[in-house]
Amino acid sequence: MTPQLEISGLTKRFGGLTALSHIDMAVDGGEMLGLIGPNGSGKTTLLNIVSGYYDANGGTLSYEGAPILGRSPHELARLGIGRSFQVTKVFRRLSVLDNMMVAGLSDWRAHRKEAEERAHAILKDLTLDRLAHAPASSLSGGQAKLLEFARIMMLTPKLVLLDEPFGGVHPELKRFMHDHIRAWNEAGVTIVLISHDMGSIFGLCRRVVTLSYGDIICDGTPEETRNDPAVLDAYLGDHHDAA
Ligand SMILES: Nc1ncnc2c1ncn2[C@@H]1O[C@H](COP(=O)(O)OP(=O)(O)OP(=O)(O)O)[C@@H](O)[C@H]1O
Ligand SMILES: [Mg+2]
Repeated sequence: MTPQLEISGLTKRFGGLTALSHIDMAVDGGEMLGLIGPNGSGKTTLLNIVSGYYDANGGTLSYEGAPILGRSPHELARLGIGRSFQVTKVFRRLSVLDNMMVAGLSDWRAHRKEAEERAHAILKDLTLDRLAHAPASSLSGGQAKLLEFARIMMLTPKLVLLDEPFGGVHPELKRFMHDHIRAWNEAGVTIVLISHDMGSIFGLCRRVVTLSYGDIICDGTPEETRNDPAVLDAYLGDHHDAA
């Protein structure tokens, strides 16, 4: 079976810094994959390339068997690749519903009425529907994160890339987010989850890839990852900030 996402020899440099060095990695449709590593190890850079925000300096990237390097974020969203941002991005001056509609109407297949119905259903599912007409600027940090989730779902993605979704989120909301991520995955959506929250990673993911200085140093089960000397060294060594 062809993997849903196949990354080969992917390299990214920023000036003299190699942020990703010949990364090889395959993700099967329906997986829930954790992506971990110390600060600056290249996690967000990898996600930015897969979602079309950054170019690569070398290597190939294929999604559902077709090459996608060089495609725009918009095209990739249409192909079913959704993402969240490490720093939450919502249109603060638009209402919650209009934030959803911006996502929904960028899809040429959607008609306004259907898109609105879909937006309300998703907002309801994420407990945001009563805030549909409030400006996004009035949302709490946690609610803004949920709105970002809601917007991703507007485009019925097949692969969702989540960058640090639990940062600054209180435990109750975090559990709610876990339940939703699990439900998406059970409905067949592939998830790549970046987080420094090891409880969330090891609780949700059956496979974990660890980056250090732009290299994959471990690719295994949560158990294998927890006991891997290279992973322990990357996190505990004095050459990195502790995460
Ligand atoms: N736009 C950019 N310009 C220059 N350097 C960058 C840029 N984006 C990332 N880098 C550098 O690339 C390396 C990898 O950064 P990246 O943001 O991918 O790490 P990360 O694993 O997501 O870290 P964190 O856990 O802190 O979010 C770092 O050294 C970072 O400073
Ligand atoms: Mg990052």
